[in-house]
Amino acid sequence: MRRGSLVRLVVYGVLSGVVASIIAVLVPWLPTSASEEMDRIEFVFWFTTVICIAIWALVSAVIVYAVLKFRAAPDDDTDGPPIHGHTGIEIVWTAVPAVLVTAISIVSAIVLAKNDDAGDNPLRIAVTAQQFAWRFEYPASAEGADDAVTAGELVLPVNQSVKLTLHSLDVIHSFWVPEFGQKSDAVPGIETTLVITPTRLGSYSLACTELCGLGHSTMRAAVEVVSQEDYDAFLAAEREGGGGGGGDDGEAVFASAGCGACHAFAPAGSDAEVGPGLDDLAGAAEGAGVSLEEFVRQSIVDPNARVAEGYQPDVMPDTYENTLSDEQLDGLVQYLVDGQGNGG
Ligand code: CUA
Repeated sequence: MRRGSLVRLVVYGVLSGVVASIIAVLVPWLPTSASEEMDRIEFVFWFTTVICIAIWALVSAVIVYAVLKFRAAPDDDTDGPPIHGHTGIEIVWTAVPAVLVTAISIVSAIVLAKNDDAGDNPLRIAVTAQQFAWRFEYPASAEGADDAVTAGELVLPVNQSVKLTLHSLDVIHSFWVPEFGQKSDAVPGIETTLVITPTRLGSYSLACTELCGLGHSTMRAAVEVVSQEDYDAFLAAEREGGGGGGGDDGEAVFASAGCGACHAFAPAGSDAEVGPGLDDLAGAAEGAGVSLEEFVRQSIVDPNARVAEGYQPDVMPDTYENTLSDEQLDGLVQYLVDGQGNGG
């Protein structure tokens, strides 16, 4: 090969490599990392991207060179010379990809293993998914204490390894906070786990990423990464406000059971439209010919008994009679009854 040809090949390769690198670096392909696990996932991403850019530069240089150099004249319709077999090239194009794929596999396996390792003493939080809400159960203050906290918001102390155990009460859901990188399904009947070590204070959003029904797109929850002191203060405030098990205060139950994910209710500040609005239940109760309280209670424990006009049956879970305590149910009914007439 002449020296001039080699120089042209190198120039084409460097140019296309630079263009590809600019696209890779300047476009924000990934959210800004907020966990150790996401940092490792980003490493795999960039490791693979660098390999891809090198191969792209090589292949595009050869193609551009060949197109320019070996272009046929417009009136030339003869066939090219027949070429058959080239052991050297065949070995190279088999060996190089094999080495690269093996390298990516090894790096990925190491990252997967590390991202699954919660260390010796992780904070354990139980996550319960159900159509269409998330619930989080934080550990009790001491072994055997009866003050576990349940909330509809995920609050995590920064730089503390957290092991989430995921459960589903109905269908398959999936836990994903983009800035944390880690993702796992919540599957009915089994327990899955996810390790997260948050590294950056801030507010994030948990999204369900498994199509789970009509309200799937609203199945979100707030995630806060806070200092250890703020985390302790959050738990203390929840214990104060609710008592063990999330409390029977109706407002807290409305939040922790995720009612606002589907229903508009002015006192709770929710405006979702998956299910019927809850601001004029008196009218609906009157239409059904029962007392307001009875109407509200039945609508929670047996949602298919009366389905509001314009809505489908079997969308709202009929599991609340089991998942809420009697006190919580009473509190929720009272909260909804008291809140009538505030919405307009
Ligand atoms: Cu739960 Cu989608």
